[in-house]
Amino acid sequence: MDLDSISQEIKSCTKCPLHKGRIQAVPGEGAVSTEILFIGEGPGESEDKEGRPFVGQAGQFLDEMLESINLKREDVYITNVVKCRPPHNRDPLEEEVRVCTSRYLFDQIKNIKPKLIVTLGRHSMQVFFPHFKSVSTSHGKAYKKADQVYLVLYHPAAALYQNSLKETMKDDFKKIPQILEEINQISN
Ligand code: URA
Repeated sequence: MDLDSISQEIKSCTKCPLHKGRIQAVPGEGAVSTEILFIGEGPGESEDKEGRPFVGQAGQFLDEMLESINLKREDVYITNVVKCRPPHNRDPLEEEVRVCTSRYLFDQIKNIKPKLIVTLGRHSMQVFFPHFKSVSTSHGKAYKKADQVYLVLYHPAAALYQNSLKETMKDDFKKIPQILEEINQISN
C-alpha cells in the first residue's frame, strides 16, 4: 500500500476504540521522499481538530527546532505512534499502540524508507526499543537496529513543561545533520 492509501485508510479506521472519541484521525504529513521521519506519541486537541500532526504548542517548538537545522516541515515526514487522540490526552494503551503500529506505522516506514527515524518521547522510543526505560537516559544518541538508524529525543511538549529541557532538546536536534552525514558516508 502506498502512503496516500495508508492515509485514506487511517482516516476511516475503526480498528480500536480511540476512533470513537476523535474528531479526525491524523495520519501524518510531509515529504513522501525524505531522509528523516519524526514519530510523536499521538494527536492532541489541536491535531484532532485540524487532522494534522504537531500543529499545537509542541508543534511550534518542533518547527523552531527544525528551522535551527535549516529544515522545514515539508522537508521531513511527521507522524505519531497512534493516529487518533486518546481521551483527555491520556497515554495510549499497549493494545492501541500494537494495533495502530502494526497496521499503519510500520507500513508508513516501509514506504518512506527514512535514513533516520527520530523518536519523540517515551512511547515512540519504546515502539522500537521496548527495553529502554526512560528518555532521560537514552536521548541524544543514535542507535542502529536491523539496518535502521534511530535518534531518541525528548517529546517537544516535555520541554514546554520543563524549561530546562529546551536547551537539551535543541542540542540533541543539532546532532541530526551530523548523524545523516555519517549514514550517507557509510552507504556511499
Ligand atoms: N503530540 C504528539 O505526540 N503528537 C502530535 O501530533 C501533537 C502533540
